[in-house]
Amino acid sequence: MWAWASRFALFGVTATWLCCLSTEAVYADAAGVTLKLPGLGALRGSLNTSAWTSRAIYQFQGIPFAKPPVGHLRFKPPEPADPWNGTLDATKFGKKCPALTRSNQEQEFKEWTSLLTPENTEDCLTLNVYTPKLFSNASLALPVMVYIHGGSFRLGSAQEYWPNYLLEKDVVLVVPQYRLGPLGFLSLQTEDVPGNMGLMDQALALRWVRNYISFFGGDPDRVTIFGQSAGGAAVTLMQLSPLVDENLFAKVIAQSGSALATWVIDRNPVRSGLAIARLANCNQTKMADLTACLREIPVKDLLLAHSKFLVADIAAGGRGTGGNHPVIQTAGNQRFLVEPPLKSIQEGRFKHVPLLGGVTRHEGSFILGNIYDNILQEYNLLHNEDYLRHNLTRTTLRFSGIEDTTGMISDLLNEKYFQSGELGNFTAMTPGLIDICGVALLKAATFRFLLENSRQQRSFLYSFNYFGEHTKFGYGVPVDYPFPGGVAHSDDLLYLFPLPSVVLNSEDRAISRTVVELWTNFAAYSDPAPANGVSFWPAMSTETGPYLRIDRTSEVRVNFLEEYAIATTAGLGPSRAPLSAASMPTLLLWLVMALLEVN
Ligand SMILES: *[C@@H]1O[C@H](CO)[C@@H](O)[C@H](O)[C@H]1NC(C)=O
Ligand SMILES: *[C@@H]1O[C@H](CO)[C@@H](O)[C@H](O)[C@H]1NC(C)=O
Ligand SMILES: *[C@@H]1O[C@H](CO)[C@@H](O)[C@H](O)[C@H]1NC(C)=O
Ligand SMILES: *[C@@H]1O[C@H](CO)[C@@H](O)[C@H](O)[C@H]1NC(C)=O
Ligand SMILES: *[C@@H]1O[C@H](CO)[C@@H](O)[C@H](O)[C@H]1NC(C)=O
Ligand SMILES: *[C@@H]1O[C@H](CO)[C@@H](O)[C@H](O)[C@H]1NC(C)=O
Repeated sequence: MWAWASRFALFGVTATWLCCLSTEAVYADAAGVTLKLPGLGALRGSLNTSAWTSRAIYQFQGIPFAKPPVGHLRFKPPEPADPWNGTLDATKFGKKCPALTRSNQEQEFKEWTSLLTPENTEDCLTLNVYTPKLFSNASLALPVMVYIHGGSFRLGSAQEYWPNYLLEKDVVLVVPQYRLGPLGFLSLQTEDVPGNMGLMDQALALRWVRNYISFFGGDPDRVTIFGQSAGGAAVTLMQLSPLVDENLFAKVIAQSGSALATWVIDRNPVRSGLAIARLANCNQTKMADLTACLREIPVKDLLLAHSKFLVADIAAGGRGTGGNHPVIQTAGNQRFLVEPPLKSIQEGRFKHVPLLGGVTRHEGSFILGNIYDNILQEYNLLHNEDYLRHNLTRTTLRFSGIEDTTGMISDLLNEKYFQSGELGNFTAMTPGLIDICGVALLKAATFRFLLENSRQQRSFLYSFNYFGEHTKFGYGVPVDYPFPGGVAHSDDLLYLFPLPSVVLNSEDRAISRTVVELWTNFAAYSDPAPANGVSFWPAMSTETGPYLRIDRTSEVRVNFLEEYAIATTAGLGPSRAPLSAASMPTLLLWLVMALLEVN
């Protein structure tokens, strides 16, 4: 309280000075801070403080950047928000985009809808802006970082991403929301349901940033887009999209995901879309009638139909990728993606920009967790030596989107990742399986994208190998796997975004300082080093590196492919308690990133 009051008094003084500079665009009083956006309206924000040095952070949350995508706008490309009268209360988060998790969907959805009125369930296209200063003198404008959250294009929200670490540095942070699941990605390849709406939402948010970020002290010419997992795929898709103007971003940070990952694109969207429609009881034969039906059904029915579709698809031997993924559009007056990402990349049709990207050491552990739940436990195969020996590697590949019809790839992998005597014994196979899953779903695709980009632009590659006190393994749900998660998928986020329930110990905090400095340096100068503990980080210059291994003692190494076998060669580290479910309610939404959801 005291800190708040004294900071506030200080700000009052600053604001008086500001008002004269910027024609009363900014003013503060006892109730908060108000900012005018020309052509849009006034916003009332609030104050927070940075995590380590208690610098002031001005926060504006729940700012609408698009018209509510409801009624005739459901499934349509987003339209820019209308101006508003009066002062918008930007002191609270906007509502989350509707999403269902697989477990307990009915009950969870009830809790979810109880927070929403029927009219605004889908009205979730808002963004949050966090800035250490509020004036728009262009020569002092700060680099801007726009974070696209992950969650399989189906889960998550902007509320999980607080600014208190990153805003130790002079950057403006923006976190937009986008439509998720079928509301954001269903595609019938028609004008009315084109697909890729969620990505167009992100692109519209970038346009908003271009137009308005200077009023928050940000530099529209120095925008870095960054994202993790599906968010990492999304930011690299921005590089490929003909719909995204070059001036909307200058740099990219892709964490644990890229447009090249096998799970990114839904290759049969119309089949998925029609199946979901049928499950939602929209089985009219005329496309126009069917579309009208889909537009009118309650969100809950649509999400439940999608969920049933995923479950049925898996049961029928499919990969459960339909209805919530980017598509190659063949219809729509706005087309976000028009050819497979690999083709754009091979033929050089993408925006080469300075790029920073990488993976975590044991990306594969959460995928193996899903294989354990959905296959080994489900079909009682954990002790079936014959299955483990002959089928498991191939099954793992199939769920990674790689159809190994001859068995050749599995044979090679078995040869590389398992010693004699290990095949057939799940415990002994665990490190190799974690490596295989990590490479197949995330490491190779991230590496390959960086490599292609590095032929034209400075590209900084990393592997995040630091084993800290906390982990996101299990996503807030108690897990009971016969193996530890290691440095799991998403563990890098613990050091970029504070969770209210987690206090970093001093060693964790040092790593946090390192990644915060590397990331914000890149946003400011296109060069991540020097930073705390990292004096030098050269851009990629060969076919395998160099890359930075981020750890207690970080080091520049030459061959990134060594990270492909890191669990096999260096193990998984000691076990540790995952973050408890009770302390991480929002992360429950991430629950059960089952294979189908990764896909
Ligand atoms: C400040 O940030 C923390 C997250 O680090 C959050 O828990 C807290 O609610 C924020 N305070 C305000 C006033 O928004
Ligand atoms: C804002 O006020 C004007 C003038 O009173 C009115 O015409 C307009 O409809 C209002 N807009 C909104 C969004 O309330
Ligand atoms: C902006 O900042 C620069 C550098 O401090 C200063 O020279 C210039 O006068 C400022 N411009 C305005 C409009 O305040
Ligand atoms: C759609 O199909 C379901 C199941 O096949 C059936 O029960 C329902 O009556 C059909 N609805 C329409 C509008 O044809
Ligand atoms: C393992 O693979 C073999 C041959 O590919 C197949 O016949 C068998 O059904 C598979 N076993 C299981 C349990 O899926
Ligand atoms: C399986 O492998 C583990 C770890 O290598 C070993 O401790 C265990 O004895 C093996 N089990 C069998 C049945 O060989």
